[in-house]
Amino acid sequence: MLMMQLHFQFDVGLVFTLKSSKGYFSACLVSFLFVTTTFSSSAVADLNSDKQALLSFAASVPHLRRLNWNSTNHICKSWVGVTCTSDGTRVLALRLPGIGLVGQIPPNTLGRLESLTTLSLRSNLLGGSLPPDIPSLPSLSYLYLQHNNFSGEVPSFLSQHLDILDLSFNSFTGKIPEALQNQKKLTALSLQNNKLSGPIPDLDTSRLRRLNLSNNHLTGSIPSALGGFPRSSFTGNTLLCGLPLQPCAAPSRPSPLTPPFPHKEGPKSKLHESTIIIIAACGAALLLLVTAIILCCCNKKKDKREDSVVKAKTLTEKAKQDFGSGVQEPEKNKLLFFEGCSYNFDLEDLLRASAEVLGKGSYGTTYKAVLEESTTVVVKRLKEVVAGKKEFEQQMEIISQVGQHPSVVPLRAYYYSKDEKLLVYDYYSSGNLSSLLHGNRGSGREPLDWDSRVKIILTAAKGVAHLHEAGGSKFSHGNIKSSNVIMKQENDVCVSDFGLSPLMSVPIAPMRGAGYRAPEVIVTRKHTHKSDVYSFGVLILEMLTGKSPVQSPSREDMVDLPRWVQSVVREEWTSEVFDVELMKFQNIEEEMVQMLQIAMACVAHVPEVRPSMDEVVRMIEEIRVSDSSETRPSSDDNSKPKDSNVQTTP
Ligand SMILES: *[C@@H]1O[C@H](CO)[C@@H](O)[C@H](O)[C@H]1NC(C)=O
Ligand SMILES: *[C@@H]1O[C@H](CO)[C@@H](O)[C@H](O)[C@H]1NC(C)=O
Repeated sequence: MLMMQLHFQFDVGLVFTLKSSKGYFSACLVSFLFVTTTFSSSAVADLNSDKQALLSFAASVPHLRRLNWNSTNHICKSWVGVTCTSDGTRVLALRLPGIGLVGQIPPNTLGRLESLTTLSLRSNLLGGSLPPDIPSLPSLSYLYLQHNNFSGEVPSFLSQHLDILDLSFNSFTGKIPEALQNQKKLTALSLQNNKLSGPIPDLDTSRLRRLNLSNNHLTGSIPSALGGFPRSSFTGNTLLCGLPLQPCAAPSRPSPLTPPFPHKEGPKSKLHESTIIIIAACGAALLLLVTAIILCCCNKKKDKREDSVVKAKTLTEKAKQDFGSGVQEPEKNKLLFFEGCSYNFDLEDLLRASAEVLGKGSYGTTYKAVLEESTTVVVKRLKEVVAGKKEFEQQMEIISQVGQHPSVVPLRAYYYSKDEKLLVYDYYSSGNLSSLLHGNRGSGREPLDWDSRVKIILTAAKGVAHLHEAGGSKFSHGNIKSSNVIMKQENDVCVSDFGLSPLMSVPIAPMRGAGYRAPEVIVTRKHTHKSDVYSFGVLILEMLTGKSPVQSPSREDMVDLPRWVQSVVREEWTSEVFDVELMKFQNIEEEMVQMLQIAMACVAHVPEVRPSMDEVVRMIEEIRVSDSSETRPSSDDNSKPKDSNVQTTP
């Protein structure tokens, strides 16, 4: 209840802080003290009441997958699907998609989560009527209930903050609530595949960007303001007429295909007279100030511990910072998904996602983007693309086709506009080979053991070999380096970032992929299968020596790993080249030397002398075959068969 009021005061406070004058100051102070004390004493109680609400929900709704919700672990830190406010006082979001929730949600359970902004229960087996206390939660902005079997009418009292409402693929009956006409903040409304009947209300289109009412039993004429949405927003309602469908029987004026208008917000002038509200507003404003200061301090502390939390901004914010005005109206330029991709979001969702910089690479900046419903993807923003649209699209097509292999990161979608090119990939949370090899060396580090290294290199080699075979002689990876060998699971990897080099401008000082780059690429500026093999050789050397060919992202101080290894080997200090971390493993010298020979063959100066990727794969496999019979102790034999237990070293 208190949060509800505070929220209200917050809105009003914004209007009035600009106008409040000195005369109100003492009143402000009084109300400020009042508000803060009430607030702090009730914070714990609020989290407790959220906890009770969730527990009673879990107790009354059976679920096929277990939830770890119990009193022993902290609700904000470890409860599955629960996200709290940054100060840990309320539950902000609940996301339980596809966990096998069965049956009806009783009222007065989730409806008690007063501060909830996001609720996703999509793809469950929920049925019966939707308790009206859920969609009317005061702060609720995102409600995803699609793919369940809810029936009965859509509740008509809705949160004024609703931004996305997805009730599609259920069994809702009755009319679309008139109340939707007053949802000024709604950007997406998905009601398709229900049993809704009656006319379509005159929806507020000020922000509406996505609308789907298809496959219902709706009747009458489509309101003219909705005429600009595509046909497929309305199809499957046999008794519906008017633009964009066929005209209604009685001649009606054709409605203009106007895009939705920009949203205007006027001051709430009705409230001017009320001094009480002004006092409350001042209180809220002061409270805001104090909260902001506290938050600031907290953030600073967190900054040191957990950089990423602070960095997590939405992609839109990032877009404003970095993207310039490049991303255009989503209607004109869509995110293009490849076949077989199960993602269900659009460019707007993507831009609204919270984003975090994963790295700034030679082709541009890579972001981790967390969308609603916990979908996480990698978004790569390409810079210096010289290819035209057609060429770009063709290359995307090839990359997507070639990417169908377990050892390759598939491209899922892309966005192309004149000023902006975005690529969307799957996200893997376990880091990459570079971080495994070089990350926090020193105390407390668990070194990457030899077996793991060999498995990783072999899998990566298979991935590159696949690219060469499936892509043909003109298609190369073009950017092989340890940070592009992505960990899928323990010892299982896939290669990323391939096939982009032909789209990119040729750098003036050729520093792209410095350290891994074959010598001839500096002259020809073209990547080939053989230049990939060279880069792969450097990658093997990196794995063997534990040394990075790129000292820092600033390309100046790159290490010529092949030359360094050659110089050491020539002087017969072979064992000196190997990573000290490998020295503690027994009986691997022989294999390491064989691996070194493969690497040296790959980094041959003359391209023609280098083996093909297929041969590299075969040679690495041969090391392993010869070793299992003789040199290796039997304790390691259990790592051979594919289905045996994975080793316990991380
Ligand atoms: C969905 O609900 C309706 C009515 O409540 C019921 O008749 C139907 O069998 C349910 N469908 C499924 C797949 O559970
Ligand atoms: C609406 O939903 C239907 C059914 O899922 C789909 O086929 C159609 O493409 C959707 N239309 C729009 C505009 O999203």
